[in-house]
This record gives sequence, C-alpha cells and structure tokens, in this order.
Amino acid sequence: MARTIGKHSSSKLVILLACAGLLGIALIIDFLWASSSSLSSSYLNWAVDTPRSVTIPKIEKKEPGKGSKRNVTERVLSATFADIPAPQLQWEKMAPAPVPRLDGAAIQIKNLLFVFAGYGTIDYVHSHVDIYNFTDNTWGGRFDMPKEMAHSHLGMATDGRYIYVVTGQYGPQCRGPTAHTFVLDTETKKWRNMPPLPVPRYAPATQLWRGRLHVMGGSKEDRHEPALEHWSIAVKNGKVLEKEWRSEIPIPRGGPHRACVVVNDRLFVIGGQEGDFMAKPGSPIFKCSRRNEVVFGDVYMLDDEMKWKVLPSMPKPDSHIEFAWAIVNNSVVIAGGTTEKHPVTKKMILVGEVFQFHLDTLKWSVVGKMPFRVKTTLVGFWDGWFYFTSGQRDRGPDDPAPRKVIGDVYRTKLSL
Ligand SMILES: *[C@@H]1O[C@H](CO)[C@@H](O)[C@H](O)[C@H]1NC(C)=O
Ligand SMILES: *[C@@H]1O[C@H](CO)[C@@H](O)[C@H](O)[C@H]1NC(C)=O
Ligand SMILES: *[C@@H]1O[C@H](CO)[C@@H](O)[C@H](O)[C@H]1NC(C)=O
Repeated sequence: MARTIGKHSSSKLVILLACAGLLGIALIIDFLWASSSSLSSSYLNWAVDTPRSVTIPKIEKKEPGKGSKRNVTERVLSATFADIPAPQLQWEKMAPAPVPRLDGAAIQIKNLLFVFAGYGTIDYVHSHVDIYNFTDNTWGGRFDMPKEMAHSHLGMATDGRYIYVVTGQYGPQCRGPTAHTFVLDTETKKWRNMPPLPVPRYAPATQLWRGRLHVMGGSKEDRHEPALEHWSIAVKNGKVLEKEWRSEIPIPRGGPHRACVVVNDRLFVIGGQEGDFMAKPGSPIFKCSRRNEVVFGDVYMLDDEMKWKVLPSMPKPDSHIEFAWAIVNNSVVIAGGTTEKHPVTKKMILVGEVFQFHLDTLKWSVVGKMPFRVKTTLVGFWDGWFYFTSGQRDRGPDDPAPRKVIGDVYRTKLSL
C-alpha cells in the first residue's frame, strides 16, 4: 500500500536534508518517520503529487589545516536499487478491464479469469465480478457479489468449478474485516454461504488441499498484527462437509499478502509481510495510516508429514502477490509485488520482475522484466501466454514508489 508524503512535510524534509550534514540524515529521517503520523496519513492518495525523489545535495567540505577544498561525493542510494537486472520481455497490451482495481482477487478456471472486488479509489470499493476470456481476449459477464462479502484482502481458491471465498476487509479505506465466507458456482453464477471463519482475517493464505479448504496467516482484526492460526474445513463440489473449521498446525510466520499454491500434492506459502496500514484511531472514515511493515521472501511447504518445511527464499522479499502467480511447466511464476521499503526515504518500493520457482530443483530464477513495477497484479496463463491485469503501478522507470491504480491487461509469450 502506498505512502505519499504530504506537500508540506516534503518541502520541510528537503530543507532539513539540505541543512543537515550527511551524518545526521539517517537520524533525522528516522525521527520524522517515527514521530509524524501526518507523514503516513495519505495512503493511496493517488492524486497527491510528491517529489520524485529526495535529493541529497553534494557537500563541499573544508579540510582543516590544509586550506583546500575537497569534494566529498557520497554515494546516494538510488530509488531503483532494488531492481534486479533481467531480460526485457515482449509485452502486448490487451483490452483493459472495465474498472481499475487494487487489492482485488482473481481465479482462473480454464480460459476464463474471474476478477473480484478491489479498491477503485481509496474511498470506493467494487462489489462485482468481471470476467476476462483468454480465447477471444475480451471482458464481459459482469455479475454482483453478495452484499456481505469483503471487498479486498480476500482469501480465495478453486476446485475448477466452485470458487471458495473467505473473510477479508469490508468497505473502503482501512475498515474492519468480516468473517463471512462464500462459495460461488461459476457455471450458474450462484452464491452460497459457508460457515464463517472462527475470527476474521486480512489477506490470509488460502488454498484447497486434499479435499479441505485451508486458511492460514493473514493479519488480525487490527489489520497490522500478524496471525499464525491455520484452519481447514472439508469441502466437495461446492458443499461444506463439516459444521465448523478445524485447527491445524500454525504457520511459522504470520502476515498478509502471500502467494499460496498447491501443486504436486504439496502446499506452498510464498513471500508476504508482517504489518500493514491501520485505521487512524478515532477516524470516522477509518482513514488508513501507515505502520511499519517488514517484507519477506520466505517459502514454506507442507507435505505428507504435516510439518512446515523451509525452502529457498525468493530472489528478493516480495509481498502483495496473493493472486499474482500461475503454475507453468512444473514451476510457479510470480509477477510484481512490493519489496522492502527504501532504507533512506522509507518509501514503498514496487517490484517489476517476473520470478520463477522451479518445483523440481526448488530453485528461483528471474525470468524477465514487466512493462513497469506493479503490486497486487491478477495473473493468468493460457495457451503459452502469461497475462497480468490490475494493481497499482510505479511512478515511472526512475521512481519505484506506487502511484496509479490500473485496469490494464498485458500478456507475454513465455518460454521457460
Ligand atoms: C568537485 O567536483 C566537481 C564535479 O566533479 C568539479 O566540477 C569541481 O571542480 C570539484 N571541486 C573541487 C574543489 O575539486
Ligand atoms: C470465450 O470466447 C470464445 C471465443 O469467442 C467463445 O467461444 C466462448 O463462448 C467464450 N466464453 C465465454 C464464457 O464467454
Ligand atoms: C514447457 O516445456 C516444454 C518442454 O520443455 C516446452 O516445449 C514449452 O515451450 C514450455 N512452455 C512454456 C510456456 O515455457
């Protein structure tokens, strides 16, 4: 989620930086960061234009006793330092989605990508489904979601016909979560209720595995605190076979926005973060305010033993990838996301690479670059083409901070 520094705070920041010696800079920013909640209050305020970067002036220092000036040219960390060199893939721009979406959800069933919910703006959330047809590359088939269903931070999984939808955030800004869960029959477009989760969660890792719907991790009700709990419930052909959720082995690390994939009868949980924006205390509109986040590239796996195993980490920490993956040729391919914040400016940094996790060797590689950096992409794979749509993209090639929420669709021919 984006943090944009308000105009006032930014100019103050620049002046402070200009006055300060290099030694003091880190300290001052840390202080501003920790002490000012106004710095963090304009989350997702996409219209606010902020400086593209914080410029640290070159400082000429007098060398005492020598009477001569010496250039002290400190190396300043580029805002794009987190980009990994990668081949440029050829991307083709397709018909855009009917609406832009951030933190939406998507499930692919054969040649159709069902795209759910999401923020349109920070103050407006969608409550409908759009469908992209990979055969003729068109959008259509819009239908409504149940009124009680969450609008973002959902957990979702499919058995190839039914889509199971659990918990998530209800409403815009940083409103509270709901424990409501639903199942959608994608053939009849009919919704049914399922037993609610024991407690609501934000963006928990969710997958169907061995006849059970598994829900684990995510953030707790305050949106920030990582949850470790793991529940499951038996499901078959859109029907729930048990009265209530069963407790399972807790996940070693909690938190939201991770990819959760079942392949070769094993369950993988990839990336994600601890911490997230929270509602500002007392705000009647639950205004989002930024809190500390730590992003991870960890990979955990469950197999027959029902014990979590730690696998090699992603090439860099990556979060906001819950619907940003596809299974291609015995590998998991993940596009975009967010990585650790900039160490000096503390700005959120988006990810613009496509990663591949090889399931035979359990090794990661970087497949190539996306047309821009973008988080919470919704991904599909059909007939050799890798597609992504939606999310929040960067400010430009030199500025990896988040800006515009998009509905664009891009595809590239993968050969892995
Ligand atoms: C400092 O560096 C700049 C650019 O490299 C150069 O133009 C300038 O003459 C240098 N100043 C001194 C005092 O060496
Ligand atoms: C997807 O497009 C193909 C080709 O136009 C069409 O035959 C098919 O009916 C479409 N599927 C849906 C569900 O609209
Ligand atoms: C998958 O692997 C096969 C066999 O190596 C290859 O021919 C095909 O191009 C691969 N598909 C993709 C999308 O990389």
